[in-house]
Amino acid sequence: MQIDDAVVAITGASGGMGEATARYLAERGARVVLGARSEDRLRRLVDDITARGGTATQIPVDVRRREDVARLARHAVATFGRLDVFVANAGAMPIGPVDALALDDWETMVDVNVKGVLWSIAAALPIFREQGSGHFIAVASTAARKIVPNMAVYAGTKAAVVAICDGLRQELAGDIRVTTLTPGFTATGFADHIRDGDLRERIAASGSIAMPAETIAEAIAYAIGQPAGVNVGEIVIRPTAQA
Ligand SMILES: NC(=O)c1ccc[n+]([C@@H]2O[C@H](COP(=O)([O-])OP(=O)(O)OC[C@H]3O[C@@H](n4cnc5c(N)ncnc54)[C@H](OP(=O)(O)O)[C@@H]3O)[C@@H](O)[C@H]2O)c1
Repeated sequence: MQIDDAVVAITGASGGMGEATARYLAERGARVVLGARSEDRLRRLVDDITARGGTATQIPVDVRRREDVARLARHAVATFGRLDVFVANAGAMPIGPVDALALDDWETMVDVNVKGVLWSIAAALPIFREQGSGHFIAVASTAARKIVPNMAVYAGTKAAVVAICDGLRQELAGDIRVTTLTPGFTATGFADHIRDGDLRERIAASGSIAMPAETIAEAIAYAIGQPAGVNVGEIVIRPTAQA
């Protein structure tokens, strides 16, 4: 598929990897359809992409709500006539030890990271089927591959994403592509959501090894840019310094 002209919906596009991916793809001619909760940030991003000659539109989306995610996919079709790629990027990372019993944070991570991806599949798949083509991309994490303290619940949600997407890829083998993007430590705003001050500072202090968010955007572009008959099933990408 050519990136040029592709219609790409992205959840969690108001910052971090989602924003970087929106900018990167729009610079290469994709028409991007952006969803997140922060409407102001989305509006500023759309204005900026448009001012640079790109094509973008936005709609408020809370991925915990099925109807919001369905609306994002419908907005792509209503605006541009089709939906070529859906990037389920939105994620919540209020990490901490299980023993802290932060039940609200557990619920948020399950709702955003697992259910949000399921609602994204449910929104994109009927459109892909009708078109006879499409590409579903979900952002997991290396946390799913190497379990470490403080990340158990987050890792569990990302392991679910890996499992769901690989099963989906096998079920859809044919015209529809499925890619799991599995990043390691990346420089975004994610550490801001950690409640435990010591843990937040420790993560922030190790930020010097983090990859720029554009690295993830490039990896997503690589998966999209392959010929229709080639499915990049999973990309695992970490800082060289990450064990
Ligand atoms: N940074 C890392 O080191 C790292 C490593 C591996 C994987 N990841 C994964 O990469 C993805 C992107 O994260 P990031 O690092 O770019 O973090 P980020 O800078 O915190 O961005 C997270 C994005 O998700 C959106 N989001 C959060 N909750 C949402 C909800 N309920 N509905 C809609 N959007 C929501 C946020 O927008 P609003 O707040 O405006 O809704 C924001 O745009 C996540 O899936 C994360 O788990 C990150």
